[in-house]
Amino acid sequence: MQDFTFVNKTEVHFGQNRIDHELADVMARYGKRVLLTYGGGSIKKSGLYDRVMKQLADFDVIELDGIAPNPKIDSVRAGQKLAVDNDVDVILAVGGGSVIDASKMIASAKFYAGDPWDLVLKPSLRMDIDQLPIVDIVTLSATGTEMNYGSVISNPETNQKLGSKGPNSPAVSFLDPTLAYSVSKWQTAAGSIDIMSHLFEQYFDNAANKDVQDGVKEGIMRAVIKWAPIALAEPDNYDARANLMWGATMALNGITGVGNENVWTVHPIEHELSAYYDITHGVGLGILTPRWMNYVLSAETAPKFAQYGRNVWHLTGDDDMEVAKTAIQKTYDWIKDLGVPTTLPGVGIENDEHFDAMAQAAVDVNKLDQKAYVKLQPADVVKIYEASMTTDGFE
Ligand code: NZQ
Ligand code: ZN
Repeated sequence: MQDFTFVNKTEVHFGQNRIDHELADVMARYGKRVLLTYGGGSIKKSGLYDRVMKQLADFDVIELDGIAPNPKIDSVRAGQKLAVDNDVDVILAVGGGSVIDASKMIASAKFYAGDPWDLVLKPSLRMDIDQLPIVDIVTLSATGTEMNYGSVISNPETNQKLGSKGPNSPAVSFLDPTLAYSVSKWQTAAGSIDIMSHLFEQYFDNAANKDVQDGVKEGIMRAVIKWAPIALAEPDNYDARANLMWGATMALNGITGVGNENVWTVHPIEHELSAYYDITHGVGLGILTPRWMNYVLSAETAPKFAQYGRNVWHLTGDDDMEVAKTAIQKTYDWIKDLGVPTTLPGVGIENDEHFDAMAQAAVDVNKLDQKAYVKLQPADVVKIYEASMTTDGFE
């Protein structure tokens, strides 16, 4: 286990309807002028917008709506202008990861005189400037952004989608599982796959003997595998939504990643797909993950994949390679049964025209050739994209 320092100051308010009697008091801690950020309208449809506005009756509210999935830098630019022009005190982000991620960047951009895309390209710039506090109400279980330092912003002009780390996690996050009742099957599946991928990225790692972290991750994986199909079948099953919501937060609030010795692999490979084709992040991960697993499986990695098979899928048998292969097939089957496409043509990516450029960018952004769990050259990443074109290799 590597040395680590762990700090996470996000205050979590978990449970049903707590916003209706706690939000105003929480917001009052940070000031009067609120930038309310949200997405394409789901919060109006669900009635959440009205509930929030009721709590904000005594505040000056400035709104930034229309933050799109795979949030674009233009939304951050618009938010920066609103935050500066109105000298806001605090951001209230209501939505999924895209809304919260854009809000994190706006929180920095208020105190930056230039174009916020600079902050995405060079996150160190954010470390020396002030930040607006963020309160959020998360409505989709997936990214863990409600309790972490990351945000991922896209620039369609340059075909870039880049993750970066800021100085703060949200000040306060409201996690109300009932708010996820209205999440579509597609986004429920995608979010659940995203949670699993966050766990895989931290589980398949080169630092050995992290039994504490591995056990926590295996437990969250078992919960997601169990509850995601239930949430699909019964969208308003509280226990299913609650386990997925807390599972998402726990999978990426830092606890499960401490002591690690790797960089993430499948995420940068997926971020290229989203950058070029604007596909849903979790669906892209679901296509790539089993192919990546197959590609990196070897005599050397088989014991870890077998550990995953035994502890997460309850597989038995002494032959690590056999158990590992079955675990990968089980992973593929679980994703397929969630009802999302399992190949790139299934999400409209019909040819390999960008594979070389995407592979090179994925390797460069995270130094996959030097630091990944299994080191990958651009040619290896192209093979993973190619394997994702068909169902070959899976039953
Ligand atoms: O925009 P609205 O109308 O709100 O609709 C959204 C959006 O269309 C809808 N939705 C959200 N909550 C809903 C709902 N619909 C009905 N009922 C609800 N309660 O779902 C759609 C997708 O929303 P989005 O915020 O894009 O989804 P998600 O939370 O999966 O976030 C994905 C983004 O986060 C990034 C991804 O790359 C992607 O850009 N990530 C952020 C991470 C982080 N900050 O730590 C880590 C992740 O690995 C990930 O990369
Ligand atoms: Zn993710």
